[in-house]
Amino acid sequence: MSKFIITEGTPLCGKVRISGAKNSVLPIIAASLLADGQSVIEEIPYLNDVKIMCDLLKSFGAEIDISCEQNILKVNPVNITNTIAPYELVNKMRASFLIAGPVLAKMGMARISLPGGCAIGSRPVDLHLKGFAALGAEISQEHGYIEIKTNGNLKGNKVYLDFPSVGATENIIMAAVMAKGQTVIENAAIEPEITDLVTYLTAMGADIKGAGTDTIRVTGVDRLKGASHTVIPDRIEAGTFMVAAAISGGDVIIENVVPDHLKPVSAKLREAGIEVSEELSSVRVTAGESLKAIDIKTHPYPGFPTDMQAQMTSLMSRAEGTSMVIETIFENRFMHISELKRMGANIKIEGRSAVIEGITSLTGAQVKATDLRAGAALILAALGAKGITEITGIEHIDRGYVRIDEKLKALGATISRVEE
Ligand code: UD1
Repeated sequence: MSKFIITEGTPLCGKVRISGAKNSVLPIIAASLLADGQSVIEEIPYLNDVKIMCDLLKSFGAEIDISCEQNILKVNPVNITNTIAPYELVNKMRASFLIAGPVLAKMGMARISLPGGCAIGSRPVDLHLKGFAALGAEISQEHGYIEIKTNGNLKGNKVYLDFPSVGATENIIMAAVMAKGQTVIENAAIEPEITDLVTYLTAMGADIKGAGTDTIRVTGVDRLKGASHTVIPDRIEAGTFMVAAAISGGDVIIENVVPDHLKPVSAKLREAGIEVSEELSSVRVTAGESLKAIDIKTHPYPGFPTDMQAQMTSLMSRAEGTSMVIETIFENRFMHISELKRMGANIKIEGRSAVIEGITSLTGAQVKATDLRAGAALILAALGAKGITEITGIEHIDRGYVRIDEKLKALGATISRVEE
């Protein structure tokens, strides 16, 4: 087990380069199973979650070749034979369920362990299954596994999602790309990661219209070929570094970003008195004289991302005045708050709302990362706290951030990774 030790430091300053998006690369790796040849995926963030998805593909019989230095992944799925995603892998990462759509489309059946609960909520997969059923799949559940199978081909159909779920939209698109006829997904998610997946599938030969809108039309094709694709930059890693600049009172240029994807975060930081300037593929974040309290409510894209809620809560705990943070996407996403309180934050939780009375300074303490973004929030709090903060549970942070400690160190933070 490792931990981070972060010592009160100077304002962060300099440039940081953002890695490829975790939430894009996971469905894209899963989709590479659909090809009848090798795909080459660039800007791979070398993360634990990526390793788990690669292990899953290997367990299906795909050949995987990953170059960590060049961030390139080659996937050759021509020899896949297996259709079972075991508990040991699905349990490690909920996004493993994204394998269901491609395996069903390619092999006519998939047996996937149920993902189970996770730290931030129950996260069911009913919408994914509703989509597969609309395409004609039969679904049954036994011994903790969901079995999805077709008698013959999947057939295009209309699917209305009760909620614009990111994972369900991706899984249904991947199941529909080789179905007979047209599938129309209504109330689809419009996150940039959906568009990135569709760009990759289109390069493979898929016929998909409407990505980035709430109506996606997929017309089935007979086969998909391997393709080359470069993953979009991670907007949540970028947003986390934007808050790092703000909370440390610094001035940081964040490179390899799509500024449009960061609009909700940029808008809220500006409202709080932070200067954010945009170039073509970078943003510069400069802390102002003061930090003002603001209200935040999480929403599906282009609303404020739930994956940035914890980090903004850390920032608001140091703002002047009272802030309100409302979490509408996940039912249990305030686990960072009890840890922030250990650092002196004044926060009250009422249902899905957190009321934050800003204080001038947090103080370092021993705290524990309970999930990925909660862990990121604690690092940010520590950057703006007096004294020393010790963060355990950092394996959660490594799931979603490429060498976050090294990137922060290069900006002037005093952070070390200690192996216990
Ligand atoms: C993805 C992201 C995650 C992000 C989330 C919301 C990946 C790998 N992960 O997760 O980082 O926080 O989007 O932006 O891309 N729901 C159902 N039934 C379903 C599916 C979802 O009720 O079948 C609910 C969930 O419980 C949750 C909400 O819908 O309350 C949003 O979930 P969803 O958009 O599916 O998130 P994920 O795809 O799991």
